[in-house]
Amino acid sequence: MQIHGEPNPLFAPVQVNATTVRNRFVLPAMQRGTRDYRPTPGMADTLRRTAEGGSGVIISEGAAPDHPAAYWQPAFGIIGRETVDDWRRVAHAVLGTGDTVFLMQLWHPGALRLVLDGVPNPHPGHPALSPSGLVQEDRPNGEAMTRRDLEDTKEAYVQSALIAQEVGAHGIEVHCAHGYLLDLFLWHETNRRDDEYGGATLAERAAYPAEIVSAIRAATGPDFVISCRFSQWKEVDYGARIAEHPDDLGPFLARMRDAGVDMFHVSTRRFDAAAWPELDSRRSLASWVKTMTDRPVVAVGSVGLTTDLARDIFDNEDPELRLEEDIVRVRSGLKAGDFDLIGVGRAQIANTNLVNRVRDGDFVGLRDFRKYRDLAEAYENYVHEGQLVDQSRKTA
Ligand SMILES: Cc1cc2nc3c(=O)[nH]c(=O)nc-3n(C[C@H](O)[C@H](O)[C@H](O)COP(=O)(O)O)c2cc1C
Repeated sequence: MQIHGEPNPLFAPVQVNATTVRNRFVLPAMQRGTRDYRPTPGMADTLRRTAEGGSGVIISEGAAPDHPAAYWQPAFGIIGRETVDDWRRVAHAVLGTGDTVFLMQLWHPGALRLVLDGVPNPHPGHPALSPSGLVQEDRPNGEAMTRRDLEDTKEAYVQSALIAQEVGAHGIEVHCAHGYLLDLFLWHETNRRDDEYGGATLAERAAYPAEIVSAIRAATGPDFVISCRFSQWKEVDYGARIAEHPDDLGPFLARMRDAGVDMFHVSTRRFDAAAWPELDSRRSLASWVKTMTDRPVVAVGSVGLTTDLARDIFDNEDPELRLEEDIVRVRSGLKAGDFDLIGVGRAQIANTNLVNRVRDGDFVGLRDFRKYRDLAEAYENYVHEGQLVDQSRKTA
């Protein structure tokens, strides 16, 4: 598509490792379609429709590597031998649409398991695990990982990545964001280890996430796409920072890149919000990252919506749709080299054909995102008298 004679950067292909992505739109991981630890046919159908709707990259909702301490509740999936056929159905649904790139997100709840929901441990005898037994400074849960736990968990990640490869996914995304297991290693508040997995700098604390990426790279080969998702914010602390200063980021990105990361997915509440306004009033986190790595960078957060995820899902402030004006901002960001791809989450839940509508310049009649309406089907077990009960308040 051309706009005023210029090629539209939103629809220019981009290379991620050996894989070509047809346009710049990503469906980020959004947990909403798993039951009994398995992806549902509904998940396959929704992702297929979003692929048909034009998204260049589809990322499956976060699902855990098959390790007992990673099991949370049956509403959150497992990528293990018992669920391989279910994942194959999802992969075939997406890949059958033609040229969409399909990644599966590997998510381990870490110390956040049990805490948000207060539900019983599905595997008694396997407490929640984390670097130092902390969800947050002064908020303990579960146990600090032993060397054995670190090895077993790493192996579970590798096995899940191999399953993703076996079912035909182009790659995986390692979820190092939002206060879950690998982010707990990155965050200075929750990683108090005095072995080689701790340290004073973000790059030092990235040792375990980097080790997992290297192990996945070694097992899956050079072409398998590995995305790394990280964030400043945590579910338990929206003001948290893993990097106090942009200078902390460069060595972290270099370590993860050298371990085998092909793409950085920078999760923020608003894609173009300044990350360090005191240093630069306009530069977003993705844009800072872009200056520090040669790997493609995905920006995400509130594209097309007036309200960010926290205010929407947790504070019940329904967003308004303002897609057309945000698309102009996204196009300028791409042209300015602030990022390479853009994640559109809730607006694509409400409109699985959003990307094709943008391509055609047809913004009329697109739907607002309404969580009670749009998540109710996926969360049918958890909707009670019009309210999403506690389990579904968690978002990963
Ligand atoms: C229902 C729901 C479930 C989510 N689950 C995940 C997840 O599994 N993994 C993850 O990294 N982020 C998850 N997120 C965050 C989204 O990937 C995305 O970063 C966030 O919604 C912001 O994008 P948006 O403003 O375009 O919706 C979830 C968000 C929602 C709304």
